[in-house]
Amino acid sequence: MTRTARAYTNIALIKYWGKKDKQLKLPYTNSLSLTLDRFYTDTKATIIDADKDIVYLNKQLLDETKNKRIINYLQTIRDFYGFSDHFQIDSINHVPTSAGFASSASGFAALAAAINETKQLGLTRQELSILARNGSGSASRSIYGGFVEWQAGFDNASSFAVPIDENPQIDLSLLSVVINKHSKKVSSTVGMENSVKTSPFYPNWVTLVSSEIKEIKQAIAKKDLQKIGEISEHNAMSMHALTLSANPSFTYFAPQTIKIMQLIQELRQKGIFAYATIDAGPNVKIICTKESITKVQEYIEQQLSDVTCVVANIGPGIQYI
Ligand code: DP6
Repeated sequence: MTRTARAYTNIALIKYWGKKDKQLKLPYTNSLSLTLDRFYTDTKATIIDADKDIVYLNKQLLDETKNKRIINYLQTIRDFYGFSDHFQIDSINHVPTSAGFASSASGFAALAAAINETKQLGLTRQELSILARNGSGSASRSIYGGFVEWQAGFDNASSFAVPIDENPQIDLSLLSVVINKHSKKVSSTVGMENSVKTSPFYPNWVTLVSSEIKEIKQAIAKKDLQKIGEISEHNAMSMHALTLSANPSFTYFAPQTIKIMQLIQELRQKGIFAYATIDAGPNVKIICTKESITKVQEYIEQQLSDVTCVVANIGPGIQYI
């Protein structure tokens, strides 16, 4: 029996934003994330006697416009390992769109692990991280649980994630605040490319990330929650400054995004632990403690009527079930 691979999504506290090699998805900087326990993708790969791959997502057959990225990725894997098998991919996303997380991190991590399992490639977790990275950069980090650093590297073999602390005994929870009505999305792939090409601040971002990675790793080692929160929020805002300073300028922020950031500042003024991080979309992820999260959720829901809140905790790495 071929086992199903399960990968959890992750939230970057120090963001990956920009590639020095598009083909290999080699980033300009390291990044650092926390794997979450609530949102995951289950994927099974079955070898089929056909000359084309077929992909089912949530039990629906994907057509050629929707499966292109996955089909290309499967071809990359075949080229890497020199086999010619085609697959039926069955993938179930337990990353509800209502939770405001992109599924590419858990999706490509689970797919890489599923092929590893079906083809009995015997990959180490480092090799699996490299393979997942070729599908989507952030997927490289979903191989591990807890705090994870993706080391930028300089070629395919040297760009992979490493665990910092897979089972951190630290009092952190994440509240995802989903803004229900939002405008058309610029994908992270396109958004980061435009930022690299046109933001005059991009070189500063590279310098900033290298110092913030060092600082946040020290804060994680000391379990200094406040420092972790401060650095994460600052890093996220600096990433979004790259989109605003791109030419033409663009932003992932919606009016509600800014409103939530103001509410977070009010919460802090009341002495309640809350720090914001935001990915390539309008939703706000709030870094909380187990104690603060209920108060933060209550306050946000009181002030804003049309948002959905989802709570997540620290999650594990790749599993086979
Ligand atoms: C803002 O991993 O989705 O979430 O490598 O082009 O697939 P590709 O990009 P992707 O970018 C994630 C961007 C981010 C920050 C992060 O997760 O580090």
